Amino acid sequence: MLSLHRKTPIKSIFGIALMSAALGLTACSAPLDPDVKARQDIMKDYGDAMGIIGDMVKAPDTFDAELLKDQTSFLAEASQNPWAHFENQEAIGNATEAVWSDNASFVAESEKFQQVTAELNNAAQSASSVDDFAPAFKEVGASCKSCHTDFKVKTD
Ligand code: HEC
Repeated sequence: MLSLHRKTPIKSIFGIALMSAALGLTACSAPLDPDVKARQDIMKDYGDAMGIIGDMVKAPDTFDAELLKDQTSFLAEASQNPWAHFENQEAIGNATEAVWSDNASFVAESEKFQQVTAELNNAAQSASSVDDFAPAFKEVGASCKSCHTDFKVKTD
């Protein structure tokens, strides 16, 4: 069974950062802020899941209900996870200032995302072909894009 839900070893990251700091080893590369790292890792996993589902949509004969449900349940569950990592305004990463200056809109985008990933996961539970979940998948893609437009620095 393929599952993309990797547990981020937060404790060990802290441990290494503390140890390096104690030993004076941080001079060459400052470790990424733990909140930035945590939310970027979750976002990367979103990207992987969306890639797997997107491949299935592009090649409908590869429809695989179990693989689909693994990915959509991951997205629905993990849709709640990044937002607590945006509390510290100093930890800007590739987020835009708008995350904090227009926080109500950011929160609205994150809530919309939780809603559309739940809808995609619901559609996936009874899907017997790509047609059954493709519209809900499109909504999720639109939600990623909509939030990134205002709240993520363009890195490409
Ligand atoms: C509510 C806003 C929001 C939603 C919804 C959202 N993202 Fe993001 N995403 C961000 C922000 C902000 C960043 C920049 C984080 C940082 O660098 O601190 C980001 C960064 C990323 C990154 C780069 C991670 C890295 O390694 O730097 C990827 C990939 C990504 N998002 C994919 C997705 C995908 C795929 C979806 C939808 C399934 C999604 N995001 C939904 C706000 C959002």
